[in-house]
Amino acid sequence: MKIGILTSGGDAPGMNTALRAATLVAAERGIEVIGFERGYEGILEGRYRALTRASAASSAGLAPIYEVDVAGALGGSILGSARSKRFYTEAGRAEAAARLRQLGVEALLVIGGNGSLTGADALAREHGIRWLGIPSSIDNDIGCTATSIGVDTALNTIVDACDRISDTARAHRRAFVVEVMGRDSGYLCMAAAVAVGADAALFREDGRSEDELVEIVTRTVERGFTDDRGKRRILVIKAEGIEVPCTRLARRVQERLDARGEELEIRATVLGHLVRGGNPSFLDRMVASRFALAAVSALADGVSGEMVAWQSPLSGGIPTGDRSVTRFPLDRVLDETRALHDGRSQLVQQRIALMHAAAGVLAL
Ligand code: F6P
Repeated sequence: MKIGILTSGGDAPGMNTALRAATLVAAERGIEVIGFERGYEGILEGRYRALTRASAASSAGLAPIYEVDVAGALGGSILGSARSKRFYTEAGRAEAAARLRQLGVEALLVIGGNGSLTGADALAREHGIRWLGIPSSIDNDIGCTATSIGVDTALNTIVDACDRISDTARAHRRAFVVEVMGRDSGYLCMAAAVAVGADAALFREDGRSEDELVEIVTRTVERGFTDDRGKRRILVIKAEGIEVPCTRLARRVQERLDARGEELEIRATVLGHLVRGGNPSFLDRMVASRFALAAVSALADGVSGEMVAWQSPLSGGIPTGDRSVTRFPLDRVLDETRALHDGRSQLVQQRIALMHAAAGVLAL
């Protein structure tokens, strides 16, 4: 059997760990692996490399190439990642299916987010190519799984960055608004705010207007810096999903502080892509490796059209040999993902309720 692996969509720390583990598991079972470069683009352009090679040391006669051995600890993706526009057309998928047949690839392991998994599903429906998905996105915005690859490392990076910003903020008795990634999900913002002891968390799911946000930040700064409370730094974490730019928010708050004659300063920092890089944490490596084991095992058993999930908050997942990993059909994943994005999901409701309950504590 021969399978293809690709990493697609925004990269996430742990993608390489999943790639390494999947190649090891496949090689041990005598499954050949080729890796496509830059996601689906690699299939269309015929850009790929063999990730396994013949080896007398292995009972199945295969072993990973050296590059895969060392990749597990690296951030980014050694295969490269892309959002392929061509693959999202029927003609592009027909071309991709023909290429895969030429290469003798029977199934794909797709490491990516919602868009990447939807692409694989269209390929399966139209051309019968089997696939399995491993959820990967620092944003934690993929349905059915408690976490996706990259979330833990991204949070560790945010915590580290906020600690550093807090050092300089305290030295000058300043307030900061720090923006973190998360176009469709405020998860990184909410989780980081609790972990760093921020004074407030601003996320799209809360549905606040720009004026309300300005009011919240102004109030938080004024209250925290009173002589009585005596804070030396105010940290507000804002999710990227809130369309008001970080700098505009800080400027409007500064104007209000100035108008009231307060001698307080506020600064804005956008962490941006900094948060997507870096070597994967222990947790991301462990989750990625266990995802890979379950996904390659399923592919070897003839399964298709499903995504592996970590400690799923939903019932009804298909069990695997790992108690923490279940599998969900793509339809269910996409339904739950939509609910996460538009706020219908119970999980989002619970997160918002928790953050509301925590708001007073954070601001104290
Ligand atoms: O990976 C998801 C994400 O990090 C979003 O939070 C962010 O909006 C987007 O990627 C940025 O993507 P790009 O790298 O294409 O600018």
